[in-house]
Amino acid sequence: GLPSAVTIYEVGPRDGLQNEKAIVPVEVKAEFVRRLVSAGLPIVEATSFVHPTWVPQLADAAELMAALGAEGRRLPVLVPNERGLDRALELGLEHIAIFGSATETFATKNLNRTFDEQFAMFEPTVARAREAGMDVRAYVSMCFGDPWEGAVPIEQVVTAGTRLLDLGASQLSLGDTIGVATAGHVTALVDAFADAGVGTDRLAMHFHDTYGQALANTHSALQSGITTFDASAGGLGGCPYAKSATGNLATEDLVWMLTGLGIDHGVDLDAVVATSVWMAGHLGRPSPSAVVRALGS
Ligand code: HMG
Ligand code: MG
Repeated sequence: GLPSAVTIYEVGPRDGLQNEKAIVPVEVKAEFVRRLVSAGLPIVEATSFVHPTWVPQLADAAELMAALGAEGRRLPVLVPNERGLDRALELGLEHIAIFGSATETFATKNLNRTFDEQFAMFEPTVARAREAGMDVRAYVSMCFGDPWEGAVPIEQVVTAGTRLLDLGASQLSLGDTIGVATAGHVTALVDAFADAGVGTDRLAMHFHDTYGQALANTHSALQSGITTFDASAGGLGGCPYAKSATGNLATEDLVWMLTGLGIDHGVDLDAVVATSVWMAGHLGRPSPSAVVRALGS
């Protein structure tokens, strides 16, 4: 059967805003994060401590975390390397997420590292974060297909994922960066991780909705026992270094389906919809989420 409860890991302020053309003022970002937290989202990934010229949209990461104050310390932030970790440590943050690639091409384009070099970059980063008492999540991108390499062999994804977990990450988020996954592929990937000794308690799914498959894929993952799902309020998002990466699975679409299935999530749907409508006003474009369009007025 399906799980009775799931954890929604909100990525709108990070994965959503990293790809927006509009410059969003830091006070608006802080308000976005606060509204998502008060809507009941248990984890809200706030920003990224990456190179500011690589992702100018999030160059105000330190300002944002300072604006959020004590409440922001438990919120995860993306960190690729020791320089990013130093910036997070200076602010007293408690939770980081590293982000690796299952493919050589995307490791080069997103991290300026080869497939093997990325682990060498993450190793001291995770070791020092753990010594400092931080929790570390790991993403792996291009789990279902890569815009430059095409199909990505499942064994290659399992190799990348287990190498990231072995560095000391507590959770592995399997990224469908360009939204090409279909339901059967999801089952096969979760099964392959189980065969490699990685159970569903250590996995999260990170779907993008490029091909409209994110909810079908989520249902498939629920049937496989996954209980953590990444989603972005209003369906904002994409990756600036991945061709054809569009928005994440919308938090509202996920919440609607979970509620219908009787699965606990703890999120106030109306509050998230209102937040996405408000954010769409700042971004100057309507939300791509079907549920926001249906409920938002
Ligand atoms: P690099 O150019 O190789 O960096 O970039 P470097 O180590 O050679 O350092 C060069 C200079 O950058 C140095 O300064 C460093 O201090 C500085 P200099 O000594 O020349 O004055 N530097 C930094 N400054 C601030 N913060 C830092 C930092 N690191 C170095 N953290 C790097 C390598 C990893 C930094 C770069 O490639 C980068 O920032 N990449 C990030 C790309 C990114 O954020 N992509 C989007 C997120 S991933 C995603 O969206 C996928 C996901 O959602 C899952 C999915 O959907 O699949 C997670
Ligand atoms: Mg993503």
